[in-house]
Amino acid sequence: MDKVLIIEKTKEYVKETLKDDSSGHDWWHIFRVCELAKEIAKQENAEVFAVELGALLHDTADYKFYKGDLEEGVKVQEKRLREMGVDEKTIEIVGDIIANTSFKGAKVKVERKFKEGQIVSDADKIDAIGAIGIARVFAYGGSKGHLIYDPQIKPVVHQSFEDYKIAHSPSINHFYEKLLLLKDQMYTETGKKIAQHRHKYMEEFLKEFYYEWDGKL
Ligand code: ADP
Ligand code: NI
Repeated sequence: MDKVLIIEKTKEYVKETLKDDSSGHDWWHIFRVCELAKEIAKQENAEVFAVELGALLHDTADYKFYKGDLEEGVKVQEKRLREMGVDEKTIEIVGDIIANTSFKGAKVKVERKFKEGQIVSDADKIDAIGAIGIARVFAYGGSKGHLIYDPQIKPVVHQSFEDYKIAHSPSINHFYEKLLLLKDQMYTETGKKIAQHRHKYMEEFLKEFYYEWDGKL
């Protein structure tokens, strides 16, 4: 199968798989990550085919699906790619992207051995910050029944993936537990630049939020 067709088929597959998702992994998240990742790949001279495939599939084996069995999720995708005739090198890169892209807590560092993986990771994290990131936090929090904010509940810096996974913090806390940390987790120079801008925008938002929370005129 040629590359254009493989991308088309994968798009259809991902749209179908994620169509009922309300946890922030809907098709439009995938679309944005894909567009961002392709742009970054061009600027960083990386292999665009692997980046695009990886971006399309990066959330399909997330720990929130497959009842936490990430390995099984990765295997399912690798098999699909092999059946379409994708080369083994690309399958290895995409498998690594699927297995390692999810954020797992402030202190949980993930090693990325492929540049393509670093690019998809940057694109995924960029989509969690800025105006889109703000919208996603409250959408996710609402879907889980979390409060917007409670001044008495302080943010936690999660030391392990286990702690992070079971947290039920108010959505504002998630800025301190994840979003404001992401600009320092960028791998590429292009990613860093985009993240800086979006980071500032979130800081402005938080300033205004507390001002309004206090009922100031
Ligand atoms: P991804 O793996 O795509 O980076 P996640 O699965 O961590 O994203 O989360 C999906 C979206 O929901 C992100 O925008 C993220 O910031 C948001 N989110 C995740 N966990 C929480 C939470 N505990 N409270 C509020 N928003 C959250
Ligand atoms: Ni994602």
